[in-house]
Amino acid sequence: MICMGGITIKTNVIKKIACVGAGIIGSSWAISFSLKGYPVYLYDTGQDNLDHAKKSVINNLKILQKNAIITRQAAAEAEKLITYTVHLEEAVQNVQFIQESGPENYEIKQNILGQVEKITSPDTIIASSTSGLLITEIAKFSAHPERCIGAHPYNPPHIIPLIEITKGEKTSPEAVECTCDFYVRLGKEPIVLQKESLGFIANRLQMGLFREAVDLVTRGVCSVEDIDKAVTFGPGLRWALLGPNLIFQLAGGQHGIRGSSLHMNPSAEKWLADMAKWDKFPDGWPDIAQAGVDKEMTNRSAEFGKTNEEIIQFRDQGLFQLLKYHKKI
Ligand SMILES: NC(=O)c1ccc[n+]([C@@H]2O[C@H](COP(=O)([O-])OP(=O)(O)OC[C@H]3O[C@@H](n4cnc5c(N)ncnc54)[C@H](O)[C@@H]3O)[C@@H](O)[C@H]2O)c1
Repeated sequence: MICMGGITIKTNVIKKIACVGAGIIGSSWAISFSLKGYPVYLYDTGQDNLDHAKKSVINNLKILQKNAIITRQAAAEAEKLITYTVHLEEAVQNVQFIQESGPENYEIKQNILGQVEKITSPDTIIASSTSGLLITEIAKFSAHPERCIGAHPYNPPHIIPLIEITKGEKTSPEAVECTCDFYVRLGKEPIVLQKESLGFIANRLQMGLFREAVDLVTRGVCSVEDIDKAVTFGPGLRWALLGPNLIFQLAGGQHGIRGSSLHMNPSAEKWLADMAKWDKFPDGWPDIAQAGVDKEMTNRSAEFGKTNEEIIQFRDQGLFQLLKYHKKI
């Protein structure tokens, strides 16, 4: 049991969950929660959105089943645990955890929070899937901002374990602890940002690499396809298993990352001096990128997928293998 700004919440009494917003992310979260046995209310503003969400849930459960990640029975049980509703009151009144996945807009998220707070108990955690908005701002008008927290998943949340946890100025440490504890029970990997940072952690890392990729192509060093080959058949293979720090630890052998830093830094600093530092994409980049990717897709062998749909299938099957290796599924 933990105390949240004077309000008591038991981390182990999360029995029911509401997903508010049933788009790409909300419907995927509903799969994550229901597969762990939690009853989920999946709420959206219109029946059409819910019909679409239901199709997506059923389709994704089928894919998990087809890839032997879950049994037919588990899929059927998860499906039964999800209640689709256009009534916010029905969705949130008796739940202990709310995953908000509405549109990425302050006004909408503030309105959702305002409506939810009128119905739900003050010790219900409200976690926003926001990709980059500040929790302080989302919770600006909240009566209980201590229970408002950011929980940014990587798409699709029912497959990718990472959750970036962000705090607002008034988020209580107990809410952070309770939320992390809950996601760990779901088999997720939460990491807590100790300071607000635009783009959080993972997207900043991605963008750092991508800026250099764009720069290498526009400088004429290599093609778009070469960049993808370099990552896929080089460091990307290791990054799927270990982070960059552990990789440098191993590169240093018995001297560890300290040794590899001392050995490598003098020449790495010369590369760093020559690397991209701009913060505006070069003119024409979207067209250069698309032409390069179109060529790359034509060159791919059919076995590994040539269209978006085929490549998604290839990617997901590989992800399942990796996640099994990481014991995440
Ligand atoms: N798509 C991604 O890759 C991704 C990844 C991580 C986080 N996110 C974040 O997750 C959130 C949802 O993104 P998405 O991609 O699922 O968007 P989406 O457009 O697919 O879904 C948003 C849903 O919210 C519904 N909605 C609109 N007004 C609402 C209201 N007042 N109450 C409840 N629901 C309402 C819409 O009908 C829609 O179904 C955003 O904050 C986004 O930044 C997205």
